Amino acid sequence: MDKDNANSKPFLTDVQTLRERARKNIETGGVTFTYKGDVKKTIDILQAVLATEIVCVLRYTMHAVAATGISSEGVKAEFAQHAKEEQEHMHRVAERINQLGGKPDFNPQGLATRSASEYGSADKLIDMIQENLIAERIAVDHYRELIRYFGDDDPATRTMLQGILSVEEEHANDMHDLLVAHQGRPML
Ligand SMILES: [Fe+2]
Ligand SMILES: [Fe+2]
Repeated sequence: MDKDNANSKPFLTDVQTLRERARKNIETGGVTFTYKGDVKKTIDILQAVLATEIVCVLRYTMHAVAATGISSEGVKAEFAQHAKEEQEHMHRVAERINQLGGKPDFNPQGLATRSASEYGSADKLIDMIQENLIAERIAVDHYRELIRYFGDDDPATRTMLQGILSVEEEHANDMHDLLVAHQGRPML
């Protein structure tokens, strides 16, 4: 094998070294020698993602309860379904923070400031749909960026975010469809 070829292959650690390393610093749990990211920064980023998901749970739950008007029943059911899925995201992100050695920040104080998406103030059904669509678009953009940011430095966090992102894209699509159905024309 020539030198260039040898360098282009990712380095594989032998079993003996893997075993020795795993026994050292066991208090760091899943954050091992090969973790290339900055753990503290990753936790900080994930706290913001957690806040974003909590705000989405709150907004969709409020909308699912408060939406009124003709043809609101189907929309309420959709809001409730989204609230449930946002709650699943919230749990996954909190678990990941915990795995990395952080304490998930569920403190209501400062929640809205930590979150990328907003809680909103809509009263009318159509405005609720629009607020949710905007919040989903913020989440989609934010998570896409984070997926690129984590890259190979933290594949587990990246994969989690990829899973969440695909659901957020569906959510954005659902909200867009509802907006078109209720307004007769696409808004965004
Ligand atoms: Fe979400
Ligand atoms: Fe969502």
